[in-house]
Amino acid sequence: MLRTSKFGIAIAMLTIASTGVVLSASVFASESVSYADFGNLENGKTIFEQGKGDVPACTSCHGMEGLGDDAMGTPRLAGQGFNFLVKQLQDFHDDKRKDETMFIMNTNAKGLSEQDKRDVAAFAASLGGPDKGSDLAQVKELGTVPVGQRHLGKALAQHGSPSRGIPACHSCHGFNGRGAFPVYPRLAGQRYVYLVNQLKKWRDGSRANDPMGQMREVAKRMSDDDIHNVATFLTNASRTTKGNARIPDQK
Ligand code: HEC
Ligand code: HEC
Repeated sequence: MLRTSKFGIAIAMLTIASTGVVLSASVFASESVSYADFGNLENGKTIFEQGKGDVPACTSCHGMEGLGDDAMGTPRLAGQGFNFLVKQLQDFHDDKRKDETMFIMNTNAKGLSEQDKRDVAAFAASLGGPDKGSDLAQVKELGTVPVGQRHLGKALAQHGSPSRGIPACHSCHGFNGRGAFPVYPRLAGQRYVYLVNQLKKWRDGSRANDPMGQMREVAKRMSDDDIHNVATFLTNASRTTKGNARIPDQK
């Protein structure tokens, strides 16, 4: 009897220990953030995978794992910043941002309560996925948006173009565009077509939900080539990089 209960305790402790390992592994992968503190992950998962009321499943356009889709022009949501996702859903809800790609996100956001938005954003933010984004050979096959030159895009992302007044994307979006939450979204590993579309929208002012016009100010100085080049670099930039060891202030 005593032996059995000791055995039982040992199993319980082993379960706790192994759960602990699993938890700390996922916390590490998600940069020490506990997404359960942001929202109800279970409700978020249900909305993400099954939709709610008239709102279709997010996966039907953003992909089964929330990685986005170049043919549809949808963004990757997996691993994007929680606050940024909530802000976008709220901006769609308030018509401060218009979905002119599939004309659906405004209706979708209106069909979700404030809590639903937080829950689904917390779930999407908690998803990992590959470090990199679009397969550029596939994008070329789609033939809808030209692919740029990676090395020119890398220079623009890291240094901007001082003579043309374009700031380095890194200065706000972090090294490699890995994101500087809560305000600056992750661009590294984002879908190519989506990156290009958004830069063009900031440039012509059809997307205008950026605080203090920060992105419109940047994009209005960019040529089509700049946009294609920088998106070519960013989609395959490592989003989990620890920074640039050779330039300490870019860590
Ligand atoms: C019918 C297709 C479709 C469905 C379903 C859909 N989306 Fe979208 N979503 C889009 C498109 C297209 C865009 C890009 C709009 C643009 O180009 O500005 C987008 C953009 C977004 C963005 C902005 C991301 C960013 O990086 O700024 C968020 C957040 C988002 N969707 C969340 C959701 C959630 C949550 C659901 C499920 C409740 C959902 N979407 C369902 C098509 C869809
Ligand atoms: C002065 C700061 C600043 C600089 C520099 C900057 N950005 Fe941004 N960017 C922002 C902010 C703020 C947002 C989020 C706007 C919002 O809340 O919708 C943003 C959003 C974006 C988005 C939309 C992401 C999404 O998921 O919807 C893209 C794409 C983008 N920036 C690309 C770039 C590129 C490329 C560069 C460099 C050429 C750059 N940014 C430089 C501030 C900046």
